[in-house]
Amino acid sequence: MTKLKTIEIVTAGWEATFRTGQSIANFLYPGDVLALFGDLGSGKTVFTKGVCKGLGVTDVVTSPTFTLVQEYSGRMPVYHFDFYRLTALHDIEMLDLDYYFNAGGISIIEWAERGEQLLPFSIFRIELDCYSENTGDFEKRRLRITAPSDRILDQVSS
Ligand SMILES: Nc1ncnc2c1ncn2[C@@H]1O[C@H](COP(=O)(O)OP(=O)(O)OP(=O)(O)O)[C@@H](O)[C@H]1O
Ligand SMILES: [Mg+2]
Repeated sequence: MTKLKTIEIVTAGWEATFRTGQSIANFLYPGDVLALFGDLGSGKTVFTKGVCKGLGVTDVVTSPTFTLVQEYSGRMPVYHFDFYRLTALHDIEMLDLDYYFNAGGISIIEWAERGEQLLPFSIFRIELDCYSENTGDFEKRRLRITAPSDRILDQVSS
């Protein structure tokens, strides 16, 4: 059984969340899947933009609201999904995720909670949390990143 490891990073503003995404890009290989979990405004798109920057994407990265999947080209292809509107599992099944997961690029999924059961075991799981209710600080986010323990997470930073 593959062991998982979790690291936690608290970011004090969007730039730090962006940089965390940029930093993780250094440790990604073709076929990796990044599943992003977290409420509206928790920073999933900001994080995705950072990953894309780190992967050398020069296209403008926006949420794929109407297209379901947005493709960018960097050092390797990037497939950016947003499951927000896909409230029925059937709609997600229609996307043919396995095709993208095996296409030699990096898949990044916003609102992964909508289709968690369709994701492979070996993913980077990124949970973003606005805990402003507790702190009163609306610029702060907690990022919990979980990945198989043989993936280098210690060097990921903001
Ligand atoms: N520490 C932080 N990290 C990330 N974003 C932050 C932070 N502090 C404030 N923000 C702001 O929060 C917003 C995050 O927006 P973003 O679009 O990334 O959220 P999202 O999780 O993708 O939301 P949605 O579910 O609507 O797709 C931005 O306006 C950003 O400037
Ligand atoms: Mg978003």
